[in-house]
Amino acid sequence: MSAHDASALIRPGMTVAMSGFTGAGYPKAVPGALAERIEAAHARGEDFRVRLLTGASTAPELDGKLASVDGIQLRLPYQSDPTLREKINAGEVDYLDIHVSHVAQHAWFGFYGDIDIAVIEVSGIRPDGQLIPSTSVGNNKTWIERAAGVILEVNEHQPSGLDGMHDIYYQTALPPHRKPIPLLHPGDRIGGPYLRCPPEKILAVVKTEAPDRSNAFSEPDETSRQIAGHLIDFLRHEIRHGRLPPTLLPLQSGVGNITNAVVAELGKEGFGGLTAFTEVLQDSMLDLLGDGVLDAASATSLSLSPAGLARFANHIAKYRQRLILRPQEISNHPELVRRLGCIAMNGMIEADIFGNVNSTHVMGTRIQNGIGGSGDFARNAYLSCFLSASTAKNGTISRIVPMASHVDHTEHDVAVLVTEQGLADLRGLSPKERARKVIEKCAHPDFRSMLQDYFDRACRESYGKHTPHLLQEALSWHQNYVQRSSMRLP
Ligand code: COA
Repeated sequence: MSAHDASALIRPGMTVAMSGFTGAGYPKAVPGALAERIEAAHARGEDFRVRLLTGASTAPELDGKLASVDGIQLRLPYQSDPTLREKINAGEVDYLDIHVSHVAQHAWFGFYGDIDIAVIEVSGIRPDGQLIPSTSVGNNKTWIERAAGVILEVNEHQPSGLDGMHDIYYQTALPPHRKPIPLLHPGDRIGGPYLRCPPEKILAVVKTEAPDRSNAFSEPDETSRQIAGHLIDFLRHEIRHGRLPPTLLPLQSGVGNITNAVVAELGKEGFGGLTAFTEVLQDSMLDLLGDGVLDAASATSLSLSPAGLARFANHIAKYRQRLILRPQEISNHPELVRRLGCIAMNGMIEADIFGNVNSTHVMGTRIQNGIGGSGDFARNAYLSCFLSASTAKNGTISRIVPMASHVDHTEHDVAVLVTEQGLADLRGLSPKERARKVIEKCAHPDFRSMLQDYFDRACRESYGKHTPHLLQEALSWHQNYVQRSSMRLP
């Protein structure tokens, strides 16, 4: 069927679940055709919006187009599209920011209501009707199971060598019938390579031939290299003290340039025999797989630059042996993250002096992207590390603040904070000890004395002295930025 005709199956008010995870494996044609129909309906004065569920972020062809025609009523669970972000922050789109590992089970529990249609990109359909997944798996198994009808996009641009790379686990159950997930090593295969869909559910099959959106990574800058250096020194220190094996523990690395740089530096530092149990596989991990530094990598999505995608497609047979793409409910499963003992490395918007981390909200109110999988890993990891530059917006914002303006990861879930200034190892420290360490090691020199002054006065004047705060002043840094575009003293 043409994308236009397939999109006509989607009617106003429907809940539509689409494939796609960090710009990989999203439908390329039906969303655009749907956006055109929505725009035409609006021009006629008709109301036409849909509730849109995905695996995670998608691309301008999906989130961007549907947001630009005001076609999205509700969106979950993670996004990073600039147009959609503006609509959410203007209060025009309802956005539910949900842990990546929770989405499939919540949909199965019925928390999001009925799913009318799933639109899923696959890289092929086998003669027996099984579906060869694409460059991400995300929630596709659950969307196909829960949706009343399924539109498939078969993307012939995706490399045929993807066949056999996926591991789709079909043994999950609703409580109280759940059993342990039999995965003991990141490289284990516990399911089969294909998705299944009852033929009677298929509403349309649309052919496409288009690449995934892919953004180039910037070359690691001095800040990223310094952050990577601090973290790698710390990992070596942990090996020397017997708290980590020389091959480390399964790595989880969040999205972004800094985490990409940290993984790249690990490769240069002579580490070997590593594994990754992560959500997204970025260029640097692909390189470590190719170089034999990484023995195995488990993820739910490939988020590669154009050059990375080309390397992947050209050497796919080599990667396929050691790279496994799984449903996001498994790639991010808390039971597995805890049992495997992951080393979690994620970016942040800001952290406060006590180690509470804000991953999502600029000035406590504007959503940036979403929590993604950071919470799945942070709470359950062997070592939970958060990394960022110590300032933002040309040094006008300190990313170390007295009180986080929004908290995604509480002090209880944060073991290590790293900025280019240094690394604060917060394990086993009381709140006041944590504050001293974070100010000393992570704050930018331009803001360090301001933080120290706040903390000293809080220690004297706070209502309670366990986690000292000056409640009238705790969020004044953010208020100052909102009012005069800088957290610096006038
Ligand atoms: N105040 C205001 N703006 C801030 C800020 C702060 N404290 N911290 C960052 N920003 C802005 C930056 O200026 C930048 O804006 P720009 O694009 O207009 O230049 C943007 O936020 C991204 O920040 P950056 O420093 O480039 O960091 P990043 O690309 O590493 O992203 C997060 C940081 C927190 C946004 C990102 O890691 C994220 O979305 N995390 C949540 C999801 C997650 O952790 N997933 C991991 C599992 S895969």
